[in-house]
Amino acid sequence: MKVDLIVKRCAELHTLKGPERARKGEEMKDTAVVKDGALVVDDGIVIDTGPTNEIMNGYEGDKVIDASDKTVIPGFVDPHTHLAFAGSREDELVKKIEGKTYMQILEEGGGILRTVRQTREASKDEIKVEMKRRMDVMLQYGTTTAEAKSGYGLDLETEVKCLEAINEMDKEHPMKLVPTYMGAHSLPPEFDDQSDYIDYCCESAMPVIAKKELAKFCDVFCEKGVFTSGESRRLLIKAAELGFGLKVHADEIENIGCSTMASELGAISCEHLVKTSDEDIKELAKKEVVGILLPGTPFMLMEDEYSPARKMINEGMAVALATDLNPNCWTESMQMIITLACLQMKMLPEEALCASTKNAAMAIDRDDVGSLEKGNCADFLILDIPNIMHLPYHFGINLVEEVYVNGVKVQ
Ligand code: NIG
Ligand code: FE
Repeated sequence: MKVDLIVKRCAELHTLKGPERARKGEEMKDTAVVKDGALVVDDGIVIDTGPTNEIMNGYEGDKVIDASDKTVIPGFVDPHTHLAFAGSREDELVKKIEGKTYMQILEEGGGILRTVRQTREASKDEIKVEMKRRMDVMLQYGTTTAEAKSGYGLDLETEVKCLEAINEMDKEHPMKLVPTYMGAHSLPPEFDDQSDYIDYCCESAMPVIAKKELAKFCDVFCEKGVFTSGESRRLLIKAAELGFGLKVHADEIENIGCSTMASELGAISCEHLVKTSDEDIKELAKKEVVGILLPGTPFMLMEDEYSPARKMINEGMAVALATDLNPNCWTESMQMIITLACLQMKMLPEEALCASTKNAAMAIDRDDVGSLEKGNCADFLILDIPNIMHLPYHFGINLVEEVYVNGVKVQ
């Protein structure tokens, strides 16, 4: 059979083929790897994978790439980013080095609210220019699909501007984006009561965003001093009625019962999960919910405590990894996150790979990416490493040699 492209002799081809759901617990170690593997692509789609000798007997490629000594994996999926923002906050890192906490900086009018001011002032085109710069770097570092949250506008006008920017960049850039509305990211300065602002999100903002079809998911920062579990619950119930998938920022700084609350409402993912208790982990493991862990955040806050990933996986939870890219934790690199996940949370390289591809795709409800299953988008990376153990090990540099999206080389 004649096809567009064959990538042959991959030292390791990690296909992540398997169940049509996130891999849980033990299953995360199995990346469905083929040694001396080959990948067949036609019309932007994965046609087949298997041992090189078998594949070369069955297919004839217009183009054939020899990937000897290289590792081939699905493109990274980054399932938690705050991509649409203006400005930067490098001086706040200095304050943190000097001993201030994230919450102290927020209370002084810094943090999220400072980025809100800058984002409100920027035009949609200015935000798109900043997003493009970040997306170019993400793609260079191997991210082919990302979720992108709004939440630095808070008022409807700016939230719509940012969500439009996300939807437009999804079309204009080779990297794919999945938009999330996160109006409930902080109490805006024009409100002095959380409950009133949740009413505003439910009655004035979300119906408009739903009608314009600007976001697939709704997320909320459920945290002591931000939004309570009750307020978050009210918002998420309304969001579900309007057709949004549910996500939650939970247990990042304190555990106020948000992860189990959101999973009971059918949330697709609970995100951050640093202070999640043993009992909560057991509850989450019973559900289909994916825990999205963000080790870049405690790293940039210079905290000792990371998400209990080992306990989560040992209890049978499905875990994904993400950058959390935002002005407080600014990295475009899933490779950096994988190194942190392995070193600080004791995830194995295979588990971290699964968490950054297949499980990350499941956490944003995309079954067409994140694995090299027949019929999926041919989004894949050629890494300049002979095996997957090098991925966390050889750190701080870009191991990605080539990036393909829909079968086309984009880097
Ligand atoms: O996920 N935790 C809430 N939101 C972001 C931080 C946003 C910011 O500091 O600008 C996060 O870490
Ligand atoms: Fe976040």
